[in-house]
Amino acid sequence: MKIAIASDHGGFELKQTVVAYLADKGYDYTDFGTHNEESVDYPSYGRKVGEEVTSGRYDRGIVICGTGIGIGIAANKVPGIRCALCHDIFSARATRNHNDSNMLSMGGRVIGPGLALEIVETWLGAEFEGGRHQRRVDAIGEIEKEYQD
Ligand code: RB5
Repeated sequence: MKIAIASDHGGFELKQTVVAYLADKGYDYTDFGTHNEESVDYPSYGRKVGEEVTSGRYDRGIVICGTGIGIGIAANKVPGIRCALCHDIFSARATRNHNDSNMLSMGGRVIGPGLALEIVETWLGAEFEGGRHQRRVDAIGEIEKEYQD
């Protein structure tokens, strides 16, 4: 599984923690920045990771800003992205099982590193259940298609 990860300055510290975790566990990942705590604009980071995932170059994306909200909203503007904001383990598992989320967003100013790493581990390890959930995920894609046409 190839993972693309990025953050803005508000998520930088937590991203560094997640990157160290991914490296330690032997995941194949690329860190698309930001690379320090200087102020940057989160939309371009959400977009970049979204495009890396929908291009097929990466299987999953993780994005982090102060709240996880802005960068996740930006990622979800990339057609084909289902980015889930998760600050608890239940949601991290459920969004893989039910929504086949291909991106995870978290807020570096919201949760601590211990919980964040458990969320990452849960989200990366959980499978999509298909079945009735496939129909619903397909319906999300249909909405997207209608607005693109
Ligand atoms: C940056 O100050 C902050 O607005 C950003 O990290 C994020 O929380 C936006 O949703």
